[in-house]
Amino acid sequence: MIKNINIAIVGLGQIGNYLLKEINKKKSDIEIKTGKKLNIIALSAKNKNKKRNYKINKKIFFKDPLKIFEKKKIHILFEAIGKSDGISKKVVEKALKNKIHVITPNKALISKHGDYLSKIAEKNKVNLEFEASVAGGIPIIRTIKEGLATNKITKFYGILNGTCNYILSEMEKSNKQFKDVLKQAQLLGYAEPGNPKLDLNGYDALAKVRILSALSFNNKISYKACLMEGIENISLKDIDIANKLNFRIKLLGISEMINGKLFERVHPCLVNKDTYIGNVNGVMNAVITEGEPIGESILQGEGAGPGPTSSALMSDLLSILRGNIKYPFGIPNNKRVDIRVFNYDNYINSLYLRFEVKDKPGVLAIITDNLAKKKISVERLIQIPNYKNKTASIVIITHKSYEKDAQNCIKIISKNKNVLKKPTLIRLL
Ligand SMILES: NC(=O)c1ccc[n+]([C@@H]2O[C@H](COP(=O)([O-])OP(=O)(O)OC[C@H]3O[C@@H](n4cnc5c(N)ncnc54)[C@H](OP(=O)(O)O)[C@@H]3O)[C@@H](O)[C@H]2O)c1
Repeated sequence: MIKNINIAIVGLGQIGNYLLKEINKKKSDIEIKTGKKLNIIALSAKNKNKKRNYKINKKIFFKDPLKIFEKKKIHILFEAIGKSDGISKKVVEKALKNKIHVITPNKALISKHGDYLSKIAEKNKVNLEFEASVAGGIPIIRTIKEGLATNKITKFYGILNGTCNYILSEMEKSNKQFKDVLKQAQLLGYAEPGNPKLDLNGYDALAKVRILSALSFNNKISYKACLMEGIENISLKDIDIANKLNFRIKLLGISEMINGKLFERVHPCLVNKDTYIGNVNGVMNAVITEGEPIGESILQGEGAGPGPTSSALMSDLLSILRGNIKYPFGIPNNKRVDIRVFNYDNYINSLYLRFEVKDKPGVLAIITDNLAKKKISVERLIQIPNYKNKTASIVIITHKSYEKDAQNCIKIISKNKNVLKKPTLIRLL
């Protein structure tokens, strides 16, 4: 590769702005490490006159990022706009077709169009790097692609959304309800002020799971429907009961191969307080991979924010500058398989069930009889009475059973007039 490298940064929001500052600050350090001299020759954002917390050179500013390709000779382009389609996709597509390396933190783009874009990158012999799209401060993509390159990964799971982990940890710590902690997270900048839905409903974590699955199992990105539940319905009551049973509730992203079939999911999990993952609190992310011959391997760090995200973007930059031209998903596209998906009805697991009922004789028996009919055996049962309201919470931890049986059972039990609310089901890890 030539010595002078021309760079474009498209998107100057939280990430682009911080990245620009980082590149300028570390230019000479990068030159020592790679022998390459960096020149930022194009910047783009929607609004030229917006006040930004870092001074930008307006002479190299493009309101329309697609115009950059006509006017400048670029070697590496950072896309930091966001969203899976529209201008972000167009810019990345055009850059790759013009034989320009692309670095992006955009998980929405990669989880939706990663297969298509990686094909273009491969055809044009340029890099498409996306370390920052999954758990910014954790070099999980590079670890899977390089550090664990010859391992057979069978499973990974982890905390992939710092917003949710912060909310759940804070609910436990402060004894505050979900909506109050969400407000606090928004004030602290951990949750989006406008619409935090994609973080809270599991979508963000699932996009990351899909990217990591493709890298871990050498498959094309799966678009098949899979289990996705967020934390919006987790109540303080469940956190409190879980705590007393030596569990914590965590939103986990889990992916594994079962008999050659891919089983991806995101949902709240009861994890034992004595485990590693049970002690990853606050905005922290962690990913645990299981593979052969490595065994279990754990990476933990901050998942988002301009600092950790820029760290990942810079690591991608150095990888390109060092001439590490490689397949975006670790192997050639024509070797990546269309994977078959595990039938979720065959999922066997232990469950936490909570029923809110009238405190009357015979109600407990209705629940346990129905569970028994479906061959779901009870490992632990706790009854918490509310004498004032003449109600009770019945909490059951089941032995391993088919979840579809438990779901059917819950439907039947819910119809009983003594059951006051939709029962809660949380899976155990
Ligand atoms: N924020 C994080 O902690 C974080 C963490 C990991 C990954 N990411 C990913 O990083 C990406 C950027 O996130 P962000 O938080 O920096 O977003 P952001 O603060 O909303 O910034 C988006 C930037 O894109 C620019 N933009 C919008 N439309 C444009 C267009 N048509 N042409 C050119 N520029 C346009 C905006 O311009 P104006 O400034 O003029 O409005 C803004 O500078 C996303 O893919 C996100 O998922 C973010």
